[in-house]
Amino acid sequence: ASRTPLMAGNWKMNFNHLQAIAFVQKLAWTLKDVKHDFDDVEVAVFPPFTDIRSVQTITQADNLDVAYGAQDLSEHDSGAYTGDISGDFIATLGARYVLVGHSERRTIHGEGDDVCRAKVNAALRHGLVPVLCVGESLEEREATSNPAEVSIAQLKAGLADVKPGTDIVIAYEPVWAIGTGKVATAEQAQEVCAALRVALAEQLGDETAAATRILYGGSVKPDNVASIMREPDIDGALVGGASLSIEDFSSIIRYRS
Ligand code: G3H
Repeated sequence: ASRTPLMAGNWKMNFNHLQAIAFVQKLAWTLKDVKHDFDDVEVAVFPPFTDIRSVQTITQADNLDVAYGAQDLSEHDSGAYTGDISGDFIATLGARYVLVGHSERRTIHGEGDDVCRAKVNAALRHGLVPVLCVGESLEEREATSNPAEVSIAQLKAGLADVKPGTDIVIAYEPVWAIGTGKVATAEQAQEVCAALRVALAEQLGDETAAATRILYGGSVKPDNVASIMREPDIDGALVGGASLSIEDFSSIIRYRS
């Protein structure tokens, strides 16, 4: 199967409106310079909600081939949900993607599999591609002989209502590797991503499993991205810290050079 690699930068709660404008403008210039090197790689950024409109304006103005998405969405479409953001609002700003079930949402905000399932469905209702994040904590990894067990359960629950042929993205992020500098080895990441593809095939059929991109996330940096990307079941990276540096993020995008 040919899957276009996806390099996704999750800004988390970084960059205010002015900083976001400066950053995306600079990213646009940098990526234009290296266009020939990243032509076959899809690039996406996940700014805070308050920056999405600026990212839309700048990518449109510069005709920049960078997709963007939100870091979360409400499971509801509209109504009395103070502080929440509907998938409709996100899609209306031209976003292509939305993260669902990032480990920081699961742990800090207590979002469980039922919430993730509802949010995946909400994303699809609004034409957004959900990037369902799964991954085990260190305790969970140490408590089992199958390191993919937790991720498979999260995947199956999150995609429970999804139909075969639906455009989705999975991000495998071992919680112990997020923001810790402890990157999973390429073999560890591949082992779980391969198991996730088998689980996808069981749930959505071989064709959808072969077409679905599975990203790795957790301390991806310019110096480890190439070895991760050599693994057959890893189709991209969800990058946190290193996506806040133009230099690091652009060299991650050009992981082949
Ligand atoms: O969404 C991104 C991940 O949580 C990875 O973050 O690259 O800072 O470890 P990190």
